Amino acid sequence: MKVCILGSGRGSNCKAILEASINQQLGLANIVGVFSDVQGSGILKVAESYGIENHFLDPGSPKAKVDSINEDAWIKILRCYKPELIVLAGFMRIVSSSFIQAFDGRIINIHPSILPSFKGLHAIEQAWEYKVKISGCTIHWVSEDIDSGKIIAQAPVRLMNGDTLEKLTQKIQAAEHMLLPWVISDLSTGTIPFL
Ligand code: GRF
Repeated sequence: MKVCILGSGRGSNCKAILEASINQQLGLANIVGVFSDVQGSGILKVAESYGIENHFLDPGSPKAKVDSINEDAWIKILRCYKPELIVLAGFMRIVSSSFIQAFDGRIINIHPSILPSFKGLHAIEQAWEYKVKISGCTIHWVSEDIDSGKIIAQAPVRLMNGDTLEKLTQKIQAAEHMLLPWVISDLSTGTIPFL
């Protein structure tokens, strides 16, 4: 199963996926390309260090979306890789309905909360401020409504007395790094069905 990863940040989830691949823990999945809307971002450097093809794709807009003309170019480039799965791993832009339709039922996203709680930006901070005792991460299919697609898998983390926001962030990211490679592997082997 050919997989493309899109992200905007450090790339720790991408690294976890590529480590899983090296350790034969990614089932039948093969990471064929990594893409970012941020030039010189950590995720592109991670991909480079693992010898994976990686590209900056110009979003053409400083806003939270990708300009439609640029997005058409993104779709063309991504199609060259014939991805059977697209993983949004810390991708901080909203994809349009035409992007979703171009890869219909084949885009997943990781979100750092137990959805449907704490959608949108700063989910970890939202959960922290709400003083929840359990949080975690969710992997879901990408639909037109943000952070609202069908849930594939979730991993909980407990907040213990004395935990800080930084500690909660670390716990959630550790959960992400475990869950995301696992879900990709299970999708590749058919253990988890596609939509
Ligand atoms: C992750 O916590 C993800 O849930 C959120 O952004 C973060 C990306 O981290 N949407 P990284 O770039 O994978 O390190």
